[in-house]
Amino acid sequence: MIDLFSDTHTLPTDGMRAAMAAAEVGDEQLGEDPTTRRLEERVAGLLGKEGALFLPSGSMCNKVAIAAFTRPGDAVVCESRAHVMRAEGGGSAALSGIFFEPLVTAKGHFTPEQLGAVLNAGNLYQSRTALVALEQTHNFAGGTVWPLQQYRAVADLAHQRGAAVFTDGARVFNAVAATGIGVEQWSSPVDAIWVDFSKGLGGPGGAAIAGSRDFIERANRFKYLFGGAMRQSGILAAGALYGLDHNLGRLAEDNANAARLGQGLTALGLEVIAPESNMVFFTPPAGTDPAAFVAALTKEGVRCSPVAGRIRMVTHLGVSAEEIEKAIAAVARVVKR
Ligand SMILES: Cc1ncc(COP(=O)(O)O)c(C=O)c1O
Repeated sequence: MIDLFSDTHTLPTDGMRAAMAAAEVGDEQLGEDPTTRRLEERVAGLLGKEGALFLPSGSMCNKVAIAAFTRPGDAVVCESRAHVMRAEGGGSAALSGIFFEPLVTAKGHFTPEQLGAVLNAGNLYQSRTALVALEQTHNFAGGTVWPLQQYRAVADLAHQRGAAVFTDGARVFNAVAATGIGVEQWSSPVDAIWVDFSKGLGGPGGAAIAGSRDFIERANRFKYLFGGAMRQSGILAAGALYGLDHNLGRLAEDNANAARLGQGLTALGLEVIAPESNMVFFTPPAGTDPAAFVAALTKEGVRCSPVAGRIRMVTHLGVSAEEIEKAIAAVARVVKR
């Protein structure tokens, strides 16, 4: 099976497993796991922030960031298809008592004008906009990459109007590979940003959120409160460190494979959202149900998923350039039928 379902399907390699098996560990809840601490220092340095916190998942990073920056009743602005609002079971509404103020965009990136129209200082009647959530790259919009200038302008405006800003950086390293713009440039305009180890970096789990010392202190309280404090988490952290050392540099390959896949599907006459990173979204031929198309592709040995009325294919370290050609050929067979 050529697995283009998601980059979350990356499997730990033998090298990563060996690093995990050899990890020095301790009680993370007591701050005594040396490998987790090493990972947190590494991430804080990489992102140019005062500190970082290792958490079991990216979803928990979103929950913790929102809890740390808001009070119940606050508004959190995000894009209308943001993962934090659409794909986390309503978690932040349930846990933090916030509501989302979604902004509709074409490519996942709102403008300062759109943001300015909804930012609210709050009063007895209206909610305060406490936080603006960005997503880099934007998953459900097509793996799209925020233009840096717009990203900065949005963050600056939020700050001028008293709101904090954080970035769901589940795939920020794919944006770095796509643009050549260093990760610290995506980090410095925002108050907090997190990175995921279980996607392109190939780890089995875990994510780390970075921010100021004060933010990390508040975030750590919510990490405990939400049940995210761990014990011998160094085993996971070792996988994450291995991913940073060995797989960060190869994300450009995934982006290139997605570009080739996009070309191949376009050449078959399919309507494709031009890939900007490691995701390809396309519309099946007129009159074809995306789920039925996906089922037919599964029979041809290609796994992918229907997402928001389209079909999504995600490239990652488990899929080679040769398999991309095979996937294009499989789509061609299904289209022909
Ligand atoms: C944009 C985005 N944010 C957050 C997440 C959640 O990350 P995790 O799977 O580590 O919980 C995902 C997962 O695919 C994602 O695509």
